[in-house]
Amino acid sequence: MNRLPVVAEARAGTSAAKDALAADGDADSGVRVRLDGGIGAEPDAGPARGAARLPVRRLRVDLARGFPRLWCGGDAFRTHFMNALSMSFPVGEQFFIDSVKKGVATLAPGQQACWDEALRGFVGQEATHRFLHAQFNAELERQGLENHWQHWVAWRIERGRDMHPVNHVAVTAAYEHFTAVLATGLLRQASWLRGAPPELALLWRWHAVEESEHKTVAFDLYRAMGGSERRRILWFAYIGLQFFVESGLQTAINLWRAGLWWRPRTWWGGARFLLGRGGVWRACALPLLRYLRPGFHPAQLADAAEMAQWLESQRAAYTIVAG
Ligand SMILES: [Fe+2]
Ligand SMILES: [Fe+2]
Repeated sequence: MNRLPVVAEARAGTSAAKDALAADGDADSGVRVRLDGGIGAEPDAGPARGAARLPVRRLRVDLARGFPRLWCGGDAFRTHFMNALSMSFPVGEQFFIDSVKKGVATLAPGQQACWDEALRGFVGQEATHRFLHAQFNAELERQGLENHWQHWVAWRIERGRDMHPVNHVAVTAAYEHFTAVLATGLLRQASWLRGAPPELALLWRWHAVEESEHKTVAFDLYRAMGGSERRRILWFAYIGLQFFVESGLQTAINLWRAGLWWRPRTWWGGARFLLGRGGVWRACALPLLRYLRPGFHPAQLADAAEMAQWLESQRAAYTIVAG
């Protein structure tokens, strides 16, 4: 098999990581903030120990060859729900990168140094996700789908541009909790990706593992910035609502564009995927709601065993390029 496109893609992914690290000019540097001293808001000095060294991996996948329209085992709902998620990633993950960089820049200079490694790993991982999901989304566009979600996100980012960085980091931490919970579901529930081509299953599970690996970074940064529990919880409630509405709308639009809206099989598959045994609701509802509890920390999501097992089983599928 010709591996040239893989190398080109992976290199671009890692250089995207470097670019993202280098490009930042508008952070409010040197300002140490203590915002609303709500319940349990004790500023911490640095990232959790496990997040200090986050490996950036080069994944051996070649998305340039395209993939079937109903790539997720021929299941219309599962395929277009996953497609919808992917559509939100490039613009969303760029926002996460920008937010944590701005957040670290608000810390006292001595404290910022504690975050160098975690920031580099977080940015490297998210920039590589962005790159590969942009490739994935380009194929969706070739298949005739329209990405509306990215415009909704971009509009909101523009409107919130002048908010204090602690809000951007709170939003990032909220989304990171969503992705970490979905990631655990993806690793535990084989049915979610049943029938997917091996390369696509690899792409999604690799992303899931890295989401799980860096799930504490934005959260710990938020605490280091002195963000309150009340603000964290309120942002999560808002983001949660928004996520359900927008993921549902984009999935519905995808199904409509694909001409699959009127097939009863589409909605039967959707009901099983969302509400059935091992489905999204049962796997995710409680872990998601735990974020609303004062004193919650994402390290309490016990998924390290699944992660380590998966990484070990896929050792031939990636190279560690940094971290
Ligand atoms: Fe990501
Ligand atoms: Fe993430």
